[in-house]
Amino acid sequence: MSEDHQLRVSKIKSGTVIDHVVGGQALNVLAILGIDGSEGEEVSVGINVPSDRLARKDIVKVESRELSQDEVDVLSLIAPDATINIVRDYDVIEKHRVDRPDVVEDVLSCPNPDCITAGGEPVTSRFEVLEDGVRCSYCGTIVRESIADLIDT
Ligand code: CTP
Ligand code: ZN
Repeated sequence: MSEDHQLRVSKIKSGTVIDHVVGGQALNVLAILGIDGSEGEEVSVGINVPSDRLARKDIVKVESRELSQDEVDVLSLIAPDATINIVRDYDVIEKHRVDRPDVVEDVLSCPNPDCITAGGEPVTSRFEVLEDGVRCSYCGTIVRESIADLIDT
């Protein structure tokens, strides 16, 4: 993209930019972060914008908010190439790639109604992260699509 054209999504003063999100996943990123705008959060989203690294990417910019490790872990499942940029006073002061964890605990719920984690038992959910999805450690159910729908809210 040539430098002399305007930025599609404005820069932010302070907060977090989640860049290089797989095209079309930005709304799932917002779901993972529990952002629906109802609390007056200042958020900018670019969907399917041109990118050097990916053919098309999504980008999510959240003012005045940092992400927890749990949030980053779940983000990595739907946006494995995402970059998390921490912005202060318009400068990127920290940048890191998301890391796909081997296991995620207590962040997703198993969609299998017969799973022990679905009953009233005090069992912490646990999923192994596969190349292309996640597998419940208790019942073996594999979920490849719509992982964001499993996020505990
Ligand atoms: N950004 C922003 N507001 C700022 C600073 C940066 O929204 N005040 C955004 C930029 O638009 C970019 C991302 O944060 O999408 C990362 O910024 P920067 O590191 O400056 O860009 P690049 O060098 O292009 O990043 P990368 O190498 O990760 O692609
Ligand atoms: Zn299960």
